[in-house]
Amino acid sequence: MQYRHAPAANHAALDAVLASAPGRPTLPVRLTVELAGRGREHLGRTGALTVWDPCCGAGVTPAVLGLLVPGLARLTGTDADPAPLGLARRNLGLLDPGGLADRAAELDALAARHGKPGYAGAAAAARTLVPASTPSWTVAVADARDTAAVRTALGDAEPDLVLADLPHGRATTWADAPGAGADPAPEHGFLRGVAAVLRPGAVVVAVGRGRTVGLPPGVRPLERLRAGHRAAVLVRAGALQDR
Ligand SMILES: C[S@@+](CC[C@H](N)C(=O)[O-])C[C@H]1O[C@@H](n2cnc3c(N)ncnc32)[C@H](O)[C@@H]1O
Repeated sequence: MQYRHAPAANHAALDAVLASAPGRPTLPVRLTVELAGRGREHLGRTGALTVWDPCCGAGVTPAVLGLLVPGLARLTGTDADPAPLGLARRNLGLLDPGGLADRAAELDALAARHGKPGYAGAAAAARTLVPASTPSWTVAVADARDTAAVRTALGDAEPDLVLADLPHGRATTWADAPGAGADPAPEHGFLRGVAAVLRPGAVVVAVGRGRTVGLPPGVRPLERLRAGHRAAVLVRAGALQDR
């Protein structure tokens, strides 16, 4: 894949500023920025965007978006698992006034306690970062296939763009849908559930491991991408509705 929206850069310091949980994979920073750029391109809009991450985990994806992508008015992170949402609030709190300064102080204290240069470097990075956007943000528990729960979690937010790092691996498996059994294509129900609460013109970006991200039968993507061992699909919400 050619990166058109995210120049090559060393994001190691940013990675150290963000809090993540062991065993919980996060999307690479550059890929996150590129996918948001491509999503915005398909929206054909320059105005401020509302972005929803329906499987936000530790909230690294929406926090990276707020820190690096300009023109974001609102970010919502939801996840079926409440466990990582404390971390998501911490990461999205970096976008609040004083959030990065507080994190720098925390990293300084860790550097002093453990004598690890990595913490000092991350503290220095936190002090030099200036968020590209200062969106309002919310984090809530919701299974993306539960339309009522998702509507409650979104409140009056109307997402323009969805960016979802789909579950994979042992630490982040799909939440069990009642009666789903061993669903051979859990991402279909997930994508339909997400689209059900969106305007038809909204754009859904879903990223998974492997060669491709499956779409329900008959749904045509806007675009498909491969980046390393990840695959992504961009699809219009309207194409997923009633499928
Ligand atoms: C690959 S992880 C995303 C990690 C995230 N990018 C981060 O920074 O932590 C996938 C997430 O999807 C969540 N998940 C699984 N099934 C879900 C469902 N039905 N609805 C919403 N979230 C779900 C998992 O709990 C997990 O946190």
